[in-house]
Amino acid sequence: MRDYLVAGNWKMNGNAAANAELTRAILARWGGGPAPVRLLICPPYPYLRELGKVLAGSSVALGAQNVSQHASGAYTGEVSATMLKDVGCEFVIVGHSERRAMMGDTSHIVAEKFAAVLGAGMRPILCVGETLEEREGKRTEAVIDEQLAAVLKRTGVQAFATAVIAYEPVWAIGTGRTASPQQAQDVHEHIRSRLKALSAEIADSMQILYGGSVKGDNAAGLFAKPDIDGGLIGGASLKADDFLAIAAAAASLN
Ligand code: 13P
Repeated sequence: MRDYLVAGNWKMNGNAAANAELTRAILARWGGGPAPVRLLICPPYPYLRELGKVLAGSSVALGAQNVSQHASGAYTGEVSATMLKDVGCEFVIVGHSERRAMMGDTSHIVAEKFAAVLGAGMRPILCVGETLEEREGKRTEAVIDEQLAAVLKRTGVQAFATAVIAYEPVWAIGTGRTASPQQAQDVHEHIRSRLKALSAEIADSMQILYGGSVKGDNAAGLFAKPDIDGGLIGGASLKADDFLAIAAAAASLN
């Protein structure tokens, strides 16, 4: 059986004091946590090092929200994978739809970032997902296939022995309009079948998270589906109570 991963993508929120308090509250109340559920927080860059110290030795992992595809050099404002590893990150989100839509992260760039994360010894969380227009045009699977193919071409299926995929339908992000458990399951099953064609073993062990308006009251229904292995949480990861309610939903299913 696959463990659950419940990940908080804090996006561009908070400040030093609030983020430290949120981290401490999650840590104090989660404690060791039930073994089959892993928690992860992904704060903004400036807070990673400090919060990494708070989390050191705990069962809550640290991740970043983005990374440069370049190793080092004259890339003003960018942060490399080795720097993120250096400050204690275990995971890095790549290809979030906000970055694909607003920051020019093409599938090619996302694949390069994914490879950089792996190369630095961390675990990429590859976000994929369709817009409402694409869903209504019945292009959901084609869009996701293209997003996956770019990464598979760059790194091969073996990368998914450690990488995580997050299915985040763009229309469900920050809208309060969650995909139904069955809508999400259908896409997760499709993603797993794509990987299964290349390696059954890797496809069976790989975690696929769902993201998009996950809350304490809809998490259990989503996580109960056979191919949903946890969540990538935005808004509800900014309050300890809400985030821990989602974690508790995962724990209740074990
Ligand atoms: P919300 O949970 O706020 O919809 O955001 C989801 C998301 O984008 C996580 O990466």
